[in-house]
Amino acid sequence: MKELKNIQVMVATEEHLKYVDQVNDAIDIASKERGTGIARRTYEYIADKMLQGKAIIALENSNTFAGFCYIETWGAKSFVANSGLIVGKDYRGIGLATEIKRKAFALSRQKFPEAKIFGLTTGLAVMKINHELGYRPVTFSELTDDEEFWKGCQSCVNYDILVRTGKSKCLCTGMLFDPAWEKEKKEGKKQNGWAIKDTLLDIINKLKPAKNNSQSKKASGFSLFKGK
Ligand SMILES: CC(C)(COP(=O)(O)OP(=O)(O)OC[C@H]1O[C@@H](n2cnc3c(N)ncnc32)[C@H](O)[C@@H]1OP(=O)(O)O)[C@@H](O)C(=O)NCCC(=O)NCCS
Repeated sequence: MKELKNIQVMVATEEHLKYVDQVNDAIDIASKERGTGIARRTYEYIADKMLQGKAIIALENSNTFAGFCYIETWGAKSFVANSGLIVGKDYRGIGLATEIKRKAFALSRQKFPEAKIFGLTTGLAVMKINHELGYRPVTFSELTDDEEFWKGCQSCVNYDILVRTGKSKCLCTGMLFDPAWEKEKKEGKKQNGWAIKDTLLDIINKLKPAKNNSQSKKASGFSLFKGK
């Protein structure tokens, strides 16, 4: 049985380029098994994400590939998407995707603090993780209209649906986190009719003892993952 404590989850760098093929192969296998949309990327695309410090990789005992995810900005950096999440078969069900997504979320907030963070998924696991991070389900109209982002769906088996609906809907659910919500929550404002509720991260951060007056970072959920 694999254990989370033996797996390191980190921002990928040049030294992780040797894992690019394993990332893509794992995505391919999962896509075929699920018979649904996980888009394969090229070697260059994944490698580029690693070189730009926009990828999260998980390695068991610092050398065996266990999981991956990357972030990318769209719409002149007004949006950042977390995409390509994959956990190797042997490593599923122990909370690894949760750790990878947390790191990707923290990286997104650190690099692009003003950007709305979003993702597309058909999977319940990812919906659960996103929900705990503070994402909400939205219609595609709330997501980026950057053509380049939607081109990434072309290698998905469901792409014809997206085209047929004029990119207004598909089998994936869109989920969004807007940093403006935190500000509005602090100010006690209503958010388009949504109830203002603490996310799991808010609750965890509130339980942590305050230090160095870093209240604003805590409120953003960032402090929880920094340095992990
Ligand atoms: C989906 C995937 C990333 C989940 O990875 P994982 O490491 O097993 O997920 P975690 O252990 O962190 O589980 C997170 C939550 O989802 C739940 N979960 C995990 N797999 C699930 C599944 N197949 N169906 C429903 N819920 C699931 C877990 O119980 C957990 O919920 P909890 O917090 O209420 O306990 C992994 O199965 C995978 O790589 N699948 C193939 C690729 C894929 O589908 N990628 C997502 C593209 S959007």
